[in-house]
Amino acid sequence: MKIDGKTEILGVLGYPVTHTLSPEIHNFLIQKYKLNLVYIPLEVQEHNFDAFIKNIGAINNFKGFNITVPYKVKSLAYMDVVSPEAEFIGAINTVSIKNNKCYGYNTDNFGFIKALEMNFPEFNLRNKEVLVLGAGGAAKAAAFSLLNAKIKKLVLMNRTHQKAVNLRNTLLQMFGEANIEVKEFNYSFLKTKQAIPHLIVNTTTYGLRSTDKDLIHLQNLKGSSTIVYDLIYNPKKTALLKDAEKYKLRTLNGKDMLVLQALKSFSIWTGISLEDELIKHFDKLRK
Ligand code: ATR
Repeated sequence: MKIDGKTEILGVLGYPVTHTLSPEIHNFLIQKYKLNLVYIPLEVQEHNFDAFIKNIGAINNFKGFNITVPYKVKSLAYMDVVSPEAEFIGAINTVSIKNNKCYGYNTDNFGFIKALEMNFPEFNLRNKEVLVLGAGGAAKAAAFSLLNAKIKKLVLMNRTHQKAVNLRNTLLQMFGEANIEVKEFNYSFLKTKQAIPHLIVNTTTYGLRSTDKDLIHLQNLKGSSTIVYDLIYNPKKTALLKDAEKYKLRTLNGKDMLVLQALKSFSIWTGISLEDELIKHFDKLRK
């Protein structure tokens, strides 16, 4: 990598950022395309966040940055322009800086859907029933993407029931016709007599710790074609995914989503086409 007076900067804003995989992904792509760019971690503490985000656009050769925990929601209000989906989801993970102005995007929802498509090409979300576990920011983004893809029914379940009710109300403002049901959180929910979901998505943070157990009882789904999608990628296999494998269900973790949201961000910054070009690197990057 050659750094000179014309090098432009990309990065990832967060706190902490030491565990992020984004620098590896983006610097790999920068080298592949021989671009005069560098992608660096941008670790900013909460008390410095306001100063950082207000002034970052002042650096002429700062091309853009990703945003990770805990700033995805907070950053939105500082953007000069926000894409419609990021506006609805209420969170941004990608900023493009042009003429000292900040443009905010959310590429997580693209990554979320594309990862499903890449892994299960025959699985068409249309007319599917989907159970989403959780009601935080990640759940909102997932639900938005699923309803956009015209699923038949969305079932929301969250430990704090009221948050799921609130999320349903928010979603109905945008998707007035959507079939959205909220269920009380219950580990044994899938044991009760009802339609088996085609897809279960875990958007909660439960599963991150090695001591975390499975969040929902899957045994009843044994032999079904249900896909269990856990957005967590570290650990690679949460207790939920291990259980799903035990019952011969199809599984997906969050790693492919991470890679695909990165490819989409890179496309926004560089103008390199995602579908024709960047997607070629998917297999290498997901390993
Ligand atoms: P994010 O923006 O990543 O979605 P969040 O807004 O903090 O993060 O939401 C975390 C989600 O994980 C919530 O749905 C939370 O449930 P509550 O709304 O009841 O807090 C869920 N969660 C976290 N720990 C959990 C646990 N031990 N069991 C079940 N759900 C859990």
